[in-house]
Amino acid sequence: MTFEVIVLAAGKGARMQSREPKVMQDLAGKSLFSHVMTAAAGLQASHIHVVHGHDEGVLQRAVQQLSGVNWVCQDQQLGTAHAVLQALPTVNPESDVLVLYGDVPLIKQSTLASLVAAVAGRNLVVLTAQVPDPSGYGRVVRGRGGSVARIVEERDADEDEKAICEVNTGFIAAPATVLSRLLERIGNENDQGEYYLTDAVSLAVESGTPVLTQTTTDVDEVSGVNTPQQLARLERGYQARQAEELMHAGLCLRDPTRFDLRGTMEFGTDCMIDVNVLLVGHVVLGNDVTIGANCTVLDSELGDGVTVNPNSVIEGAKVGSDCNIGPFARLRSGTELAARARVGNFVELKETRMGEGSKANHLAYVGDAEVGRNVNIGAGVITCNYDGANKHKTLIGDDAFIGSDSQLVAPVEIGPGATIGAGSTLTGNAPAGKLTLSRSKQVTRDNWQRPQKKDRVK
Ligand code: UD1
Ligand code: CA
Repeated sequence: MTFEVIVLAAGKGARMQSREPKVMQDLAGKSLFSHVMTAAAGLQASHIHVVHGHDEGVLQRAVQQLSGVNWVCQDQQLGTAHAVLQALPTVNPESDVLVLYGDVPLIKQSTLASLVAAVAGRNLVVLTAQVPDPSGYGRVVRGRGGSVARIVEERDADEDEKAICEVNTGFIAAPATVLSRLLERIGNENDQGEYYLTDAVSLAVESGTPVLTQTTTDVDEVSGVNTPQQLARLERGYQARQAEELMHAGLCLRDPTRFDLRGTMEFGTDCMIDVNVLLVGHVVLGNDVTIGANCTVLDSELGDGVTVNPNSVIEGAKVGSDCNIGPFARLRSGTELAARARVGNFVELKETRMGEGSKANHLAYVGDAEVGRNVNIGAGVITCNYDGANKHKTLIGDDAFIGSDSQLVAPVEIGPGATIGAGSTLTGNAPAGKLTLSRSKQVTRDNWQRPQKKDRVK
């Protein structure tokens, strides 16, 4: 039996109070929608249909890597049953259908596969959850003998029903023909005046369609995101689970509750990550890497033995083995450091390659530069790489010494072994092995007197 997936993603998400479509809210570096689509794509369904509102482009960009998605517009958001009805005409009537909610991001593929398996060409299958706090969810009302009678939305529920802790997760699966038959009969006589997919359950019971439930107790897996509070709670749940898995694989985290990975990472042995570190995109750590407190590392690679001291930001960089970074360093995209380089406090590097053992220890900006081996870049050195219109390169040869507070006006080339005197403004090349400096002569005025305030009491 083939099956197709319908993802509901057209809701306005009024409770989020955002201008973005709700399903585009970010969870751990990916939109809610991308999380759901990843789960859907893993299922080997014959088709995936996405019901969207007037934001098709935004959603499509989020899942560019997925081909063959059927995009269905729901012009007016009249409810979840109405949303499914928009997609059903394009579904093969011979097929089973699995409905996913675009705002329930952490659903596991294995749970979905077992729902689909239970349809068996005839059953309506509903995924329910036993949760400690059911507020906000539809409640599963069971009749005598424990079989499901109906699902009631919170706003339509009476006090007894509100006390039920078995909730509707929204995930539902049934043969396409059964769904169309049931959905055509759903009305909108409820508090919101919407067509509720959940009403398919009581209609199925009435018409003798077998209704099966599968139940989970994993709250995060079935949590929907309707409010900023729910989004934050789910993010913490996700991060906790992820931190647990990383530590299980040997990563040392000083405090797993103060660690965030918004993407993916690889790491070697004996890596230690201190508190409040944020890893984004894809991050690769070699062996013996230490990352100090309050650092952000985005799409970067840190080699064996690298130490990143607190409050550093590393973005799109490749850091060779045994380098020492920070505290308060900023490596921007295109930074490549060879082994044993040292980038200290308040130093910013951009599109710069630095050779083995070179140092910029304090207060420097080095952009669009090729720096050789064992170069010393003094405190306060700046490459003037931008003339207001174009960027220019600075080339610094091996063993050069750039005196403190020098400005290297690019394009400029400093030869191997050159020394630049402190406080120089270089507008021309500096030859290898020589001292080059540009500095006004120091003077002392013997007869100078410091101005005095007129009314100063002597
Ligand atoms: C829904 C369920 C509720 C369940 C909860 C689980 C209904 C009526 N209620 O409530 O029983 O406990 O999910 O998370 O189904 N959508 C559309 N078009 C619409 C309306 C909604 O595509 O016209 C989409 C939304 O984008 C969202 C999903 O359907 O992804 C669910 O809609 P939402 O309004 O969030 O329903 P809940 O109130 O959370
Ligand atoms: Ca919801």
